[in-house]
Amino acid sequence: MPTIDNPTQKTLRELGVTESAQISPLFEEVRARFDSQANRQMDAHSYEMLRQSWIGRKSGIVNAITENWLKPSPVELKRAVGASLNQLREHIEVVLKTAGLAIESGAEESALAREKVDLSLPGAVRPIGSHHLIRQVFQDVEDIFVSIGFSVVEGPEIETPYYNFEALNIPEFHPVRDDMDTFYIDLPKGAPTPLLLRTHTSPMQIRTMEKQKPPVRVIVPGKVYRRDNPDATHSFAFHQVEGLAVDTLITFCDFTGTIEYFVKQFFGPGVKTRFRPSYFPFTEPSVEFDVSCIFCGGSGTAASGATCGKCKGAGWIELFGAGMVDPAVYGFVNYDAKKVNGFAFGMGMDRLAMLKYGIDDIQVFFQNDARFLRQFP
Ligand code: DAH
Repeated sequence: MPTIDNPTQKTLRELGVTESAQISPLFEEVRARFDSQANRQMDAHSYEMLRQSWIGRKSGIVNAITENWLKPSPVELKRAVGASLNQLREHIEVVLKTAGLAIESGAEESALAREKVDLSLPGAVRPIGSHHLIRQVFQDVEDIFVSIGFSVVEGPEIETPYYNFEALNIPEFHPVRDDMDTFYIDLPKGAPTPLLLRTHTSPMQIRTMEKQKPPVRVIVPGKVYRRDNPDATHSFAFHQVEGLAVDTLITFCDFTGTIEYFVKQFFGPGVKTRFRPSYFPFTEPSVEFDVSCIFCGGSGTAASGATCGKCKGAGWIELFGAGMVDPAVYGFVNYDAKKVNGFAFGMGMDRLAMLKYGIDDIQVFFQNDARFLRQFP
């Protein structure tokens, strides 16, 4: 490999420099070489290489010039060499300093760019759940009754036969118990009372009146259970809201007016209500409330002209049971049946939800299929 002819490795004598006039051009050549190297695009690494090769303490070119040109130079040239060398060193230092600062601030800038937090970027989106439709319907019903002065109370799902039946005027062997067969808890022999899963929210009528003197205005949302085989309208667990209002001057008109207000708030102002005589052991008289069919507008005829499949042409849909509290019930809670009266009702939430949202299978409430649940965000 041919060695690169490097004048700074030689002495001035070897280079044939004998007069001070030759000094300047020699240094100019070196300076031009430095300038051309310093003019290139540099990063921190190539900058450091350049710096070392020029002003590195031992291996740098400036050092080589000091050793090879200045120190051995004849006395008459020393001044000129020294002066030119100082100029060269100064020039190199200034250029390197400027370049060094530029690289440093460039590196800082890119580090800043790398570390910058972009607040406009969308965050990690986590799926957010929503309330189950039944919970939403509970909420709607609660809001309506709370707005007219009812308070919300809740009670145990495990009940005694006394609260679930007897105190509601349903003695043992009463035929309505056939419709309310339920699940019993296995208890050790000698337990003071059997325990069952409540078949309705009505036991809370008793528990509330036991605790509280009239006036009473409560609603009771909750889960109830029956030994029913599952089908499109039956489930062994379902949801009710009980209502109870007891005071000194409550009339049948207060009762029907309250129900009508609720139904219109819940389904919309266009619906009509009616009631028919019915029977419950804990109300007298007892009624069944109907609402004008939400699907055909009460006409009994569907949009297609065929008979409405939901109300079977009747124009009415059965909603829930209710009535004026049977005086016998007051006897169980030490209320004076001669002084107080009131009304009660018990609504199936699943049924209300199915009617309001056109759902024809109660099972979807319990299957937790996300495709169904997502339709009610
Ligand atoms: N508890 C009854 C049931 O589950 C519904 C009911 C009817 C509740 C009339 C009442 C009422 O409070 O007055 O079938």
